[in-house]
Amino acid sequence: MTRHSRIAGTGSYLPPKRVTNADLAQQLAARGLETSDTWIVERTGIRARHFAEPDVPSSDLALHAARQALESAGRKASEIDLIIVATSTPDMVFPSTATILQNKLGVAGCPAFDVQAVCSGFVYALTVADSLIRTGTAKCALVIGAEVFSRILDFDDRTTCVLFGDGAGAVVLEASETPGILATDLHADGKHVEILCVPGGVSGGKVHGNPLLRMDGQAVFKLAVGVLEEAARATLAKAGKTEADIDWLIPHQANIRIMMGTARKLKMSQDKVIVTVDEHGNTSAASIPLALDVAVRTGKVKKGDTLMLEGVGGGFTWGAVLLDF
Ligand code: UT7
Repeated sequence: MTRHSRIAGTGSYLPPKRVTNADLAQQLAARGLETSDTWIVERTGIRARHFAEPDVPSSDLALHAARQALESAGRKASEIDLIIVATSTPDMVFPSTATILQNKLGVAGCPAFDVQAVCSGFVYALTVADSLIRTGTAKCALVIGAEVFSRILDFDDRTTCVLFGDGAGAVVLEASETPGILATDLHADGKHVEILCVPGGVSGGKVHGNPLLRMDGQAVFKLAVGVLEEAARATLAKAGKTEADIDWLIPHQANIRIMMGTARKLKMSQDKVIVTVDEHGNTSAASIPLALDVAVRTGKVKKGDTLMLEGVGGGFTWGAVLLDF
């Protein structure tokens, strides 16, 4: 019997502090920078984002999302035999946020590790968990994207600080006789490191280089639209499906123009795109599982629907997962 993996439950968490575009415009004005709700909405589709309090790490956001996903899957934390956290804003240099989360969940013993693929992190993590389940290494995995991007934003750079937010999303992925995950497709091209990065690092007890996010937005935009179409088509081909089989497109939530551009290229109606970028901003690795959970809880995504999840981001990394929910 072929072994597959299937999503058994979803969860998410946003820190309570909601920051509107108007709030940000006011904050930036105090630094002598000009921005506006109109500019941010027209260029990105973002209206608000959530910021965690300074003492709240990614693992705390992940814990809330994980508990909700476990509850919706009808599982106890003790039944989890694999924890993968996708994050670019880990609690510590080491150990992994996944091991910190494991301890907060009150369990021990199962493997736990982080995946670092920036905004493609959740798609990477889901692919790794799917592989470990299909090879029999795990039966019941917790796969999470969790970020506190507000910590690495440069509030003197209006071209980036208005784009990102904090949050976490989680799924429980279980072994199943029926698929589940139908096909996956992952890629990276390290020659584009410079267009989206946090160049600083820790050495000799000091931070060396700039520890804040830098992005060439236009270069990222151009690459993103192309690779998202390619990854979607490659994933469909692997599964022997076509665009017409997709019920919902759940792309990385960075910019509404990129998301709708991808839908247009795939000849999909805009109504089939799950959009949370307006209320969440870009939450990097958390954006796809957050959007998925919102879509499930608002009754859009239903059991049996075919979903195309797509990530793209720093590295440059990109990828897609096609699944029956
Ligand atoms: O998560 C990983 C993936 N990341 C992405 O997918 C992000 C991809 N890139 C983008 O989403 C877009 O490139 C941005 C939203 C970052 C920028 O939008 P754009 O349409 O490419 O704008 P632009 O960079 O061409 O800037 C247009 C103008 C510039 O002024 P001038 O040179 O035309 O006078 C900017 O200085 O808008 C100005 N500008 C702003 N104005 C008000 C840039 N940021 C702001 C701002 N408020 N916050």
